[in-house]
Amino acid sequence: MTKPVAVITGASSGIGSAFARRLAVHYDLLLIARRQELLDALALELRARHDCRVTVFVADLTDTVQLTSAAAAIAAEPQLDLLVNNAGFGHRGLFWEADLEAIEKMHRLHVTATLRLTHAALGVLVRRNAGAIINVASVAAFGQRAGNASYGATKSWLATLTEGLYLDLHQAGSAVTVQALCPGFTSSEFHDLLGEDRATLAPPSLWLTADAVVDASLQGLAKRSLFVVPGWRYKLMLGLLGKLPTALKLRLEQRASRLPSH
Ligand SMILES: NC(=O)c1ccc[n+]([C@@H]2O[C@H](COP(=O)([O-])OP(=O)(O)OC[C@H]3O[C@@H](n4cnc5c(N)ncnc54)[C@H](OP(=O)(O)O)[C@@H]3O)[C@@H](O)[C@H]2O)c1
Repeated sequence: MTKPVAVITGASSGIGSAFARRLAVHYDLLLIARRQELLDALALELRARHDCRVTVFVADLTDTVQLTSAAAAIAAEPQLDLLVNNAGFGHRGLFWEADLEAIEKMHRLHVTATLRLTHAALGVLVRRNAGAIINVASVAAFGQRAGNASYGATKSWLATLTEGLYLDLHQAGSAVTVQALCPGFTSSEFHDLLGEDRATLAPPSLWLTADAVVDASLQGLAKRSLFVVPGWRYKLMLGLLGKLPTALKLRLEQRASRLPSH
């Protein structure tokens, strides 16, 4: 029987592979990332456990040619039902001191790749009048801190794009759903790649598992929630932050700047 297809970027680790394990129950999968050996191992595991077709698509989504191929593969998938724009990475440093190439790469991945893949996916989904797009943003979309300007800016862009798409789809009377998933500290390779020690980065109560993030996202999808913030502590934090006058918000952000960010 033909199953709906879910495409997951950054499926080789962390939140992306947690999405793949959860979605393999109901979907055929197209998994995208750079590390082929990890994608192949995950595909083998999922094919053995579930009656699903898993296609591995190795691509560096910051590369224009590879991104174009990934977008073409999505546009050519008639059973496409879900796109999870999850691939991403962090970068630390005062803006003018940070490596410009690394920052530009982050913008190409978080912004340009999301833009191109979402455009390709919506062509199919809107035609089918079904399906969803999940954009993995961050709590950093709503609260900034020093040393994280580009990351916060790209995540705010993701949240704003998703809200704009929500309005466009509603205006068009489309049944397609969009979600901006906004996790806080999540255990994955993300902080390891930044050389950060998870044990000292944040108190244990603030750490989320990738599985908990995916659970919250899929529950939110069933309710067609536009913004999903996993964990009551983060919901409370963002709720309060959003109500503060700018001067007070900035004071809190300055204090939080002493901690590493997510
Ligand atoms: N962990 C957190 O605390 C946290 C909090 C809020 C939001 N997020 C967001 O959650 C998303 C997933 O992060 P994670 O925590 O699961 O981290 P992760 O374990 O490091 O996963 C990142 C994924 O992105 C892929 N990726 C990175 N660069 C890529 C590129 N150029 N082309 C294609 N794929 C690329 C990586 O695969 P390859 O290396 O194989 O390419 C990997 O699968 C990111 O967007 C991140 O910003 C994370």
